[in-house]
This record gives sequence, structure tokens and C-alpha cells, in this order.
Amino acid sequence: MPRVSAVLLPDHLEQPVQSGRVAVVIDVLRATTTIAQAFISGAKSITPAASLDAARMIAHGKPGALLCGERGGMKPEGFILGNSPYEYSTEQVGDQELILTTTNGTRALQMCSDALEVYTGSITNLDLLSEVLQADSRDVVLVCSGTDLKPAMEDAFCAGLIIDRLLDSHDLDDSALLLHHAAAGAISVFGSIEDVVKSSFHARRLIDLGFAKDVALSSELGSARCLPVFDPATGEIRPAILQARVDG
Ligand code: MLT
Repeated sequence: MPRVSAVLLPDHLEQPVQSGRVAVVIDVLRATTTIAQAFISGAKSITPAASLDAARMIAHGKPGALLCGERGGMKPEGFILGNSPYEYSTEQVGDQELILTTTNGTRALQMCSDALEVYTGSITNLDLLSEVLQADSRDVVLVCSGTDLKPAMEDAFCAGLIIDRLLDSHDLDDSALLLHHAAAGAISVFGSIEDVVKSSFHARRLIDLGFAKDVALSSELGSARCLPVFDPATGEIRPAILQARVDG
């Protein structure tokens, strides 16, 4: 059986990540939720950038591409879109190339670039992602992005929910066992997925900034039938699978 493991921060990955493993980068609030939403709304590709300067440099080589992202949760000066999934409507991003830089999520993606495959995971694409992982015989590592170099509750919780779907197809190492138990415990304490997510530090910060709707959308289990995959060779994320297209 393949093995599933998890890290609370990309900085905890053994280097190199590869050694036969698929990586799933998780940043529930909000990068990987927004990435799935962008593809559901018809975006062509997303190039993740580690810094604002790197994003602007990439934009020079991609005329017409939209600069997107956040710092401190807000849209940076001169950018077209921030990091709210609600901004990624069909009208805004349909058939567009995007360049995305976020504080934690795009950094985590770059840190997994030596994995066999790099998927992005969120609560919204968890159903499709889990189906794909169940049928994959390769080991997988779930990489929580965290918030400002600290573990983030919502990412660890999402990892635990994914692990729950892999109980019959994968062996769990201790890191996976721990997050699986933690997710079950969180549900029994808070009652619903949205209430667990809302209890996190990052959710409270986003709610204070006026993004309560983003927190709710990011908690919608299985609402996005899209599996984004990052190809380090091209530097782009594209949908490996896209089964539904709805207006954003
Ligand atoms: C990040 O990558 O740090 C997040 O997506 C931040 C945010 O909520 O916009």
C-alpha cells in the first residue's frame, strides 16, 4: 500500500521531497481555494510567484497576464486581483493567464517543486482530489502551507479530512494518524466544517478584514470538481481534471 504522511509547514519537509512522492499543497485560507475557483471560472493557467517582485518580473514575459495575489490579506498596489475567491469570476479570469503571489501558499508550492507531482488541495476540491489519490499507487505527502511560518489549524484540518478518505487505500504514518485524529476531534468539538475553519487564527483575521464570505466559501466541502497540478518545468499550474464549470 502507498503511504500518506503530512507536514504542518513546508519547512518541515525532508529534502528532497521527491523520493517517489506526490505532494499536495494545502492553503485553505485562501490560496488553494482561490486557485481551484479560478479554474472553475475558466482561467487558462496560474503562475505562482514567491514574491511581489518575482510576480512583476514574470508579468513582463507574459503580456496580458493578470497580476493577482495578496500581502496581509489585501490586494497589492498595482495588482488586478486580490486573493478572494469571489474576485475570480468567469468575467474576470475566463481564458486568462494569471500570475499569483500569496504570503504562504505560493511559497509552499515552490518548496515542493521536486515532488513527482504537485497538486493543490483545499476543502472545496477535497472530493475529487481524494478520488485521484485513492487510485494512485505512489506515496503522498500533504503539505500544509501554514500562516506566517506557523502551523495553521484550517490546513491541518483539511489534511486530516483528506487522510480520512485514504484509510482504505493508504498506510498512515504517525503524522497522518495524528492529523486524522485531530480532524475528527475538531469536528466533534465544533460541529461543522465551517465552524472548525472559523475557529482558526487566519479565519478570524480574514473576518476582521471583511472576508467572512471567503471563509464560508473555503469551507464548502467538495464544491469544486477541479484538480490543479503545478508543473515546475513550465512554472504553471493548470487543471489536471476539471469536471464542472460554474459562474463565479
Ligand atoms: C496565503 O497564501 O498566505 C493566503 O492565501 C493569505 C490569504 O488569505 O490571502
